Amino acid sequence: MKDLKATSHLSWDEWDELNDPRPERTDFDDVVSGAMSRRGFLGGVLAIGSGAAVMGLGPRASQAQTAVERFAFTPIPIQTDTTVHVPEGYRWKPLAKWGQPLFTGVEEMSHETGVSLAASDRVFGENTDGMESFVHEGHQLIAVNHEYVNPEINLPHIEGGIPTSAEHVRILQNMQGVTVMEIAQGGDGFEIVLDSPYNRRIHHNTPMEIRGPAAGHDLLKTEADPEGRTALGTFNNCGSGRTPWGTYLTCEENFNGYFGSTDPELEADLPEDYTRYGIGAQSRYNYEAFDARFDVSQNPNEPRRAGYVVEIDPTNPKSTPIKRTALGRFKHENAAATLAADGRVVVYLGDDERGEFLYRFVSDAPYVEGEDTSSLLDEGQLYVAKFNDDMSGEWIALTPEATGMADDAEIAIFTRLAGSAVGATTMDRPEWVAVNPVAVEAYCALTNNSDRGIEGNAGGDPASVGGPNPRAENEYGQILRWFPADEDHAASQFRWDLYVMAGNPVVHDDAYAGSDNIEPAEGEGTVGNLFNSPDGMSFDTTGLLWIQTDGDDTNEGDFAGMGNNQMLAGDPETGRIERFLTGPKGSEVTGLTWSDDKRTMFVGIQHPNAPFPDGEGMLPRSAVIQVVRDDNGLLG
Ligand code: FEO
Ligand code: CA
Ligand code: CA
Repeated sequence: MKDLKATSHLSWDEWDELNDPRPERTDFDDVVSGAMSRRGFLGGVLAIGSGAAVMGLGPRASQAQTAVERFAFTPIPIQTDTTVHVPEGYRWKPLAKWGQPLFTGVEEMSHETGVSLAASDRVFGENTDGMESFVHEGHQLIAVNHEYVNPEINLPHIEGGIPTSAEHVRILQNMQGVTVMEIAQGGDGFEIVLDSPYNRRIHHNTPMEIRGPAAGHDLLKTEADPEGRTALGTFNNCGSGRTPWGTYLTCEENFNGYFGSTDPELEADLPEDYTRYGIGAQSRYNYEAFDARFDVSQNPNEPRRAGYVVEIDPTNPKSTPIKRTALGRFKHENAAATLAADGRVVVYLGDDERGEFLYRFVSDAPYVEGEDTSSLLDEGQLYVAKFNDDMSGEWIALTPEATGMADDAEIAIFTRLAGSAVGATTMDRPEWVAVNPVAVEAYCALTNNSDRGIEGNAGGDPASVGGPNPRAENEYGQILRWFPADEDHAASQFRWDLYVMAGNPVVHDDAYAGSDNIEPAEGEGTVGNLFNSPDGMSFDTTGLLWIQTDGDDTNEGDFAGMGNNQMLAGDPETGRIERFLTGPKGSEVTGLTWSDDKRTMFVGIQHPNAPFPDGEGMLPRSAVIQVVRDDNGLLG
C-alpha cells in the first residue's frame, strides 16, 4: 500500500508538482541560476518590459480620468479572513455547495458521514471550477466543472480517505466531473431547480464518444473498447469554454494523476510518452487497486484516452459527451472559442504546466448558424505558438511534415511532443485564455513559473528568460495579450505585449515590482491592486477583463499586501485594474459566468481552508456564489 495519506491534504497542483517533479538540478544549473540573480538578468529583456512589451500606461492622471467610468464599483481592500467580500452596493450568497442535492429525496453530504454511494452522483460535486451559463427554451442552465476531491472528507470513515474498496473509489469518481443544473429566481436570488430534467452529473464513469483524428487509432484501443472510439469518464475538469452553437466545453487538465500501476516492477519501464505527461506508477486516489481501467500495468492505453477537451450539450440530458481529439492532448486549462473573419471556428488552448505551450485550433469549415456543427471541432488544424523577442509571433501548424510524426492521430495524442518538434515557446504555465468580444485580441494568464531560467519542461525544451516570459523564477505571473494580424483570429502572425506583470512594488524595485499598472495600497483610502498568480479569466459583454487568482495567500514576504485570492477587473484600453472580490482564506477564486440578464454574476470559490460558506464549526465547502447589485443593476 502506498503512503497516500501524507499527501491527501494537498491541492491537485501541489500534489502533481510533488509527484512529478522537474528533473534533478545539476551543479551547472545552480551556476546558471546564480548568474540570473533577480537584478542581474534584467538588462536585455526588461528593457523591452519597461517600454513597449508591457502595456505602456502613459501619464497616470489622464488614465484615471477615463478609467473611472469603466468601473461601476468602488474597489475593495485585500482581506485575510474566512469569507467573501464584494464592494459596497453589492451583495453575495451561495448558489450551490459541494454535496448539495440536485434532486429531491437525496441526502445532503454531511460532515460526519460524508456522502453515500447512492447520493454521490445526485449532488453538486466538489471543487467547483470553470462554468458557463446557457438559456434553453426559457430555462436558465449552468454547466460547471468539479476538478478534484478531498478524499478524507468525502470518505470521513476511512483513514486518510484512501479508498479500500471499489465502492469508495466510485464515490470519489462520482464527486468529480461536471454538473449541469437548471437554476431559477427564488425569493432572494437564484436557486437550483430540484428535479429539473436538465439536472445531470457527468463523472468518471459517464460514457463518452471519441471523435477527431485520434478516434479509432491503435493507441486508443483497449480490451473494453477494441474500436478506440468510446471511453468512460472525463477527468480533472478545470477550465471551460462555450461554442458559438451553445454547447459546453470542459477541459481535462491533470488527468495523469488518476493512473497508477499495481505492478511495482513497472515503474522502471513505463512507456516513453508517459514521462512527458507525468504519468507514473503512483496515482493520487488509489483507483488502480479497485478499478483496472486505471491500472496502466493492465491498460497502458487508458491514459492516452484522457487529456482532451470534451463537448457537452447542456440542453440535452441524454446526449453523449464527445472527446474532441483535434484540439490536442495535454493538460488543458480552458478552451476559448471565437470566430475568424470568415466564420471558421478558432479555439485558443493553454497547457498548464511549467514550460509547456499555448495552442490554437482553426476549423476547416465556417460556423453557419442553424447548420450542422457536429464535426466543426473534428476537422481543422492545430497550431502552437512561437513568440519572438521583437514582440512578433506566429502560429506554427502541427502537421506530419512539420513535426515528423506519422499522422494527425499521433499529433492529437502526443501533442506536447509535436509542439517540441517545431520549436514552440515554453511558457510560464498557460492558464485561461479569454477573447475580447469588442476588439480582435486575446489574453492568456501565465500564472507563474518557479522553473523559468532554471529547468525546461519534461521534454527538455529551453526555459530561457525572454519574450512573454521575462522573469526568472517567476513567482507572480503575468497576463499575455496578442493582436492577430489583419484583425483575424485565423491569421498566422500576431503582435503581442504583456497586459500586466504582477509583482510587489513594496518589496521589490526591479522587474519583480510588476508593471506600471500594479499599484500598492499607499496612503489613506487607497486599496491598490496587488495580486499574484492570475489564473481564471473571462470578458464580460462590455469588454472588461475579469481576472481571478490562484496564488500564494500567506500575505507575507514577497506576497505581503496581496491577501487572500481575489477577483479583479481590468480595462484593456487603459490597463487599469481594480479589485472587486476577495475569497476566503485558502481558497482559489475560479470560474465566472453571468445570468442571461447580466444582473447576477456567478463566481466559483474552490478549496476554502476555512469554514466557508456555512460559518464557524462547519465544513469548508467549495461553492458557486451569486453576486448582485443592491440596485439590481447590470454586472457585465
Ligand atoms: Fe486547474 Fe491550471 O488550473
Ligand atoms: Ca486554473
Ligand atoms: Ca492555478
